[in-house]
Amino acid sequence: MTSPSSHNRSMEPAADGSRSLRRLLELVAGRLADDGVADPPPTAALIAARVLGLPRQQLDAEVRRPPTAKEQARLLGLLDHVAAGEPAAYLIGYAPFLGREFEVTRDTLIPRRDTEELVKIVLEQDGVHPLPDRPHVLELGTGSGCVAITLALVLPEAEVTATDISAAALAVAGRNARRHGVDDRVTLVLGDLFEPIARCAAERPFDLIVSNPPYIPAGKIDAMGRAVAANEPRLALDGGHDGLGFHRRIIAEAPRYLAPGGRIYLEHEADQGPLARRIGEASDAFEEVRIVKDSGGRDRVLAARRK
Ligand SMILES: C[S@@+](CC[C@H](N)C(=O)[O-])C[C@H]1O[C@@H](n2cnc3c(N)ncnc32)[C@H](O)[C@@H]1O
Repeated sequence: MTSPSSHNRSMEPAADGSRSLRRLLELVAGRLADDGVADPPPTAALIAARVLGLPRQQLDAEVRRPPTAKEQARLLGLLDHVAAGEPAAYLIGYAPFLGREFEVTRDTLIPRRDTEELVKIVLEQDGVHPLPDRPHVLELGTGSGCVAITLALVLPEAEVTATDISAAALAVAGRNARRHGVDDRVTLVLGDLFEPIARCAAERPFDLIVSNPPYIPAGKIDAMGRAVAANEPRLALDGGHDGLGFHRRIIAEAPRYLAPGGRIYLEHEADQGPLARRIGEASDAFEEVRIVKDSGGRDRVLAARRK
């Protein structure tokens, strides 16, 4: 890995101002590659187009020209952010999730591949244990809304409710719901886990509860690297001493809100499978408790059926 100091020297503006936009994009891509970002050149172009306020095609068409002084200053400023470990998704302002784009801000977790696996598992299980018509679906801790909105799109009959304790995250989720045209079927509510939905669940219990709750053990967050620890919201990461504090709460409280026969799916870290399973099995309210593996063969989701 190149040392930051050698990068800083190469990032300095060319004295004769002859540096092309292409060369600056290469510097950004090089910095992203050092940070382990996948596909550095296209990501660098996306970020640069956003920072410069140019449509992507226009940037591609103009890469040979020298940047204006303002563009050069902006791109070099961008490099400072990248060098400081700011995730590319926050610089671009959106992230992909199962083939769709979702706005993200520093108030939301950046959607992860592991959570794409959670949604795929929920949908595969729907093939095995079909949901009722017009299913009532709850997502706890929606962040950018990527899970709730994807479920609403794939299950067009579903009525989806999604909660989060962060008002700022819910504002992003609301914009994403509108962007994807499901704001009429995704209800966003602010509060602590089930607290804001207690009344609506009493009228009509949920058929499906899905969550990717915070599950990083508190003591391990700082070891996740500066891109995560210094940039992503701690509220989205901290799962208490062993990472499974939310899973215990959700399994304890969910039976009050889940219809008999309803199913629950909770994402967890690959090494938390045995402990997550014990949490599910300790509840008298659930049966068919199991850990579902992701497509990479890793323990990924605690699944259970309400008796
Ligand atoms: C791991 S993130 C998941 C975000 C999104 N669902 C995703 O998969 O990308 C967990 C989310 O739970 C929210 N959260 C944390 N504590 C909460 C609580 N007590 N009640 C509701 N949401 C909470 C956080 O604000 C964060 O958006």
